[in-house]
Amino acid sequence: MKILLLGKNGQVGWELQRSLAPLGEVLALDRHSTAWCGDLSQPERLAQTVRSWRPDVIVNAAAHTAVDKAESEPDLARCLNATAPAALALAAAEVGAWLLHYSTDYVFNGQGNTPWQETDATGPLSVYGQTKLEGEQAVVASGCKHLIFRTSWVYGARGGNFARTMLRLAGERERLTVIDNQHGAPTGADLIADVTAHAIRQVMQPQAASLAGIYHLVAGGETTWHGYARHVIAQARLIQPQLALKVTDIAPVPTSAFPTPAQRPLNSRLNTLKLQQAFGLVLPPWQQGVDRMLAEIL
Ligand SMILES: NC(=O)c1ccc[n+]([C@@H]2O[C@H](COP(=O)([O-])OP(=O)(O)OC[C@H]3O[C@@H](n4cnc5c(N)ncnc54)[C@H](OP(=O)(O)O)[C@@H]3O)[C@@H](O)[C@H]2O)c1
Repeated sequence: MKILLLGKNGQVGWELQRSLAPLGEVLALDRHSTAWCGDLSQPERLAQTVRSWRPDVIVNAAAHTAVDKAESEPDLARCLNATAPAALALAAAEVGAWLLHYSTDYVFNGQGNTPWQETDATGPLSVYGQTKLEGEQAVVASGCKHLIFRTSWVYGARGGNFARTMLRLAGERERLTVIDNQHGAPTGADLIADVTAHAIRQVMQPQAASLAGIYHLVAGGETTWHGYARHVIAQARLIQPQLALKVTDIAPVPTSAFPTPAQRPLNSRLNTLKLQQAFGLVLPPWQQGVDRMLAEIL
């Protein structure tokens, strides 16, 4: 099997380099790759990569993910999140490849308390959410065989993440304030990459075309950023009792306490039943992945 991976050095892309390796020949690209174009700002050259290399599967882990920055550079965000996936999808349809693409809880408006289902009406609140939604729609409209995994609150052990930030601040301050009215599930890039590999194995079986579609892929359970922060600090103290953490008070605050250019949905809960049933997979509780990541970074 030939797999073209785009965005190889992002949080998810990095883990995909590991999880896809046993499946076959992986051509992993980033925007700087030279032999083949992996730059989402050049959709036509990207499509040419697909037409020339002729993969069986394309996994697109690249995107414009700077949610606040996207508000002031909507054209670039649209190119990376919508135009490039559209070009990839059309090229995938041409060569008969499956396209694995990622999207986001930010396609929803965040109202209510119920976990969103794949069939629920979308209503993005930000340029990022809007352009990611346009990307989804373009992939579906292209007619290529596709899986679109909507995920949320992604973290990786490599590079900066929310847990690292909380640990740093907890070392510096006695009091932290953390948003407690956005609800979702922190989801490890490693889990997303592993589920992707399992799903690819299944869609490469005969008569798997009916599996094509949009799926919600997040870790089990739910929390808030405040609950997430509390868990990180408590777990850090448990596994590294000698860690010098000054923090004694982690106070809950509303989203309005941290104004940002882009509006975030308050309800980012995603219902994952469809994915679990279609692929026979179990999505472990979010704490399991976070604890593992903490054990790696501490
Ligand atoms: N992070 C989250 O919380 C979150 C939540 C929901 C959904 N998602 C979705 O999940 C997917 C993976 O996200 P992630 O967390 O792994 O994001 P990430 O760590 O920000 O990785 C995105 C990757 O895209 C690359 N990229 C940016 N511009 C590019 C260009 N012009 N050409 C090629 N590559 C380019 C970046 O490369 P550079 O490093 O060179 O900039 C980076 O490696 C995305 O589709 C994202 O929308 C993420």
